[in-house]
Amino acid sequence: MGLKMNPPEEHLNRQMAGVAFPIPSGLVQALRNARHVTVLTGSGISAESGVPTFRDAQTGLWSKFKPEELATRGAFQRNPKLVWDWYAWRRELVAQAQPNAAHLALVELERRASGFTLITQNVDGLHQRAGSRDVVELHGNITRVKCFEEGLVVPTWKETDETPPRCPRCGGRLRPDVVWFGEMLPADAIDRAFAASQACNVFFSIGTSTLVHPAAALPFEALQHTAMVVEINPCSTPLTARAHYALRGTAGEVLPDLLRML
Ligand code: OAD
Repeated sequence: MGLKMNPPEEHLNRQMAGVAFPIPSGLVQALRNARHVTVLTGSGISAESGVPTFRDAQTGLWSKFKPEELATRGAFQRNPKLVWDWYAWRRELVAQAQPNAAHLALVELERRASGFTLITQNVDGLHQRAGSRDVVELHGNITRVKCFEEGLVVPTWKETDETPPRCPRCGGRLRPDVVWFGEMLPADAIDRAFAASQACNVFFSIGTSTLVHPAAALPFEALQHTAMVVEINPCSTPLTARAHYALRGTAGEVLPDLLRML
């Protein structure tokens, strides 16, 4: 399905709503009628907050660092200090970042929708800081740490002479509470994510390259269950050709305009 727009009418609507980005009227209508809206976000939604993505050329984290040296259990066993310090650097970066217009628009969408599920691959906690109440975190959260040995989340920890610090319970090393390559996603989060993708009428994929599974399967799951699938991303991804609408702009410009049109 392509863009269903009547250009003159669309132009008039946009002028009236003070909107710069062309929002398809078919999407506006579908959102107004939707019983349940599901949103999947990736690192692109936090790019306008100054948090780097993973795969963008030049600026993406994986263009500068090797995932196998920083984001696997083996990497932590080989060099726990390197891994801890890298995540501590990212934790600091995220602490200084602020939610942007896209995070805030999703808070408003949640408020207006009759049913709404927000699923994120991001570990930065910016959706929660923006005010989203119920966020399904597929890849954990960088602001939490857990014991490498037992997996128990440790609510607070002290930076000590030893890096990484030790678990106060068992003395094992502490690690970030994020999902590393080769690890399982939290079962309740992935179950909720698939259920919400199957049950929704409109599914948004925002700021994700649609390359990392199982999250990358969610928009296709929604398509199979007859949802309208909308991508918001300045670049194309493996989803673009299958999406009902691919809105080629940044999340921070498209989402606020979409809200204004509703
Ligand atoms: P990627 O870096 O793979 O993709 C980021 C996407 O965001 C790209 O498609 C960009 O075009 C898009 N983008 C960039 N700026 C944007 C903006 N302002 N608005 C909208 N889109 C924008 O990041 P993810 O898809 O999130 O996993 O990566 C998925 C997973 O791979 C991450 O959760 C992480 C990573 O390795 C783990 O660490 C387990």
